[in-house]
Amino acid sequence: MNRFWEWLISPIYKRKLRKLATRVEYLEMAFIGLLEDLSSAEIEARAFNGQRQRRDIFYSIINNCGVDAIIETGTFLGVTTRHMAEKTKLPVYSSENNARFHLVSKKRLSSLENVRLSLSDSRDFLKRLGESAEKPKRPFIYLDAHWKDDLPLREELETISKQWGECVVMIDDFEVPGDEGFGYDDYGWKNTLNNKHFSKIFSSLGFVSFFPRKHSATETGAKRGCVVLTGNAAILETLSRNEHLRRT
Ligand SMILES: C[S@@+](CC[C@H](N)C(=O)[O-])C[C@H]1O[C@@H](n2cnc3c(N)ncnc32)[C@H](O)[C@@H]1O
Repeated sequence: MNRFWEWLISPIYKRKLRKLATRVEYLEMAFIGLLEDLSSAEIEARAFNGQRQRRDIFYSIINNCGVDAIIETGTFLGVTTRHMAEKTKLPVYSSENNARFHLVSKKRLSSLENVRLSLSDSRDFLKRLGESAEKPKRPFIYLDAHWKDDLPLREELETISKQWGECVVMIDDFEVPGDEGFGYDDYGWKNTLNNKHFSKIFSSLGFVSFFPRKHSATETGAKRGCVVLTGNAAILETLSRNEHLRRT
């Protein structure tokens, strides 16, 4: 083969190889998820990226904000889904767009009657739930469907602001201003999960943001950052008094 064809073809093969590697990686994850038989304590330790402070933020929101349901985007293998369902007993709605991860979660969470799993894109899922008769009135919404190349966050937030006047939103993998010890996602141009690219979107949709108050040095697990949002005056007041959060 002459050099021109080698030059032309190799990027295509490289892309195919990368895709194949990702498929194998996902299959491995799904396979392990299927074999694992985790106790509730193990699930608790792994939920919310294994972060104890994050779990405390979650419990404080559930205990004080009067939420009536939980909505999650990005079920993955159902670890945080199961934790939220077992701990709160609230209805938990979660969506996953990868068919294998969805199937594994369905099997793992089949005994939990308060969990409804959906195989769908998070954008469609939020729209459908918001327009359905089942629509929760005051949900806690955990946005965690950003992975690899997909960042549905802007559309997710637009739908949430249209559909839920009363809600608390938590976005995982978001930069915590002033604390570099927390990790965050960076998808390149205008798609970094931080205030620089999202604070205007938050305010244009009527959301006020809060960040973890405790320093990353005292956090456990993967130490991913997060932001908590609300557009509701009563919830805003409650969050302002939350010892785990600081308002920006
Ligand atoms: C970081 S993982 C979620 C982890 C999970 N929330 C937990 O705490 O265990 C992200 C998941 O979102 C899924 N995902 C990515 N884009 C999505 C989309 N647009 N709609 C639904 N799920 C999506 C991925 O397949 C992956 O399983």
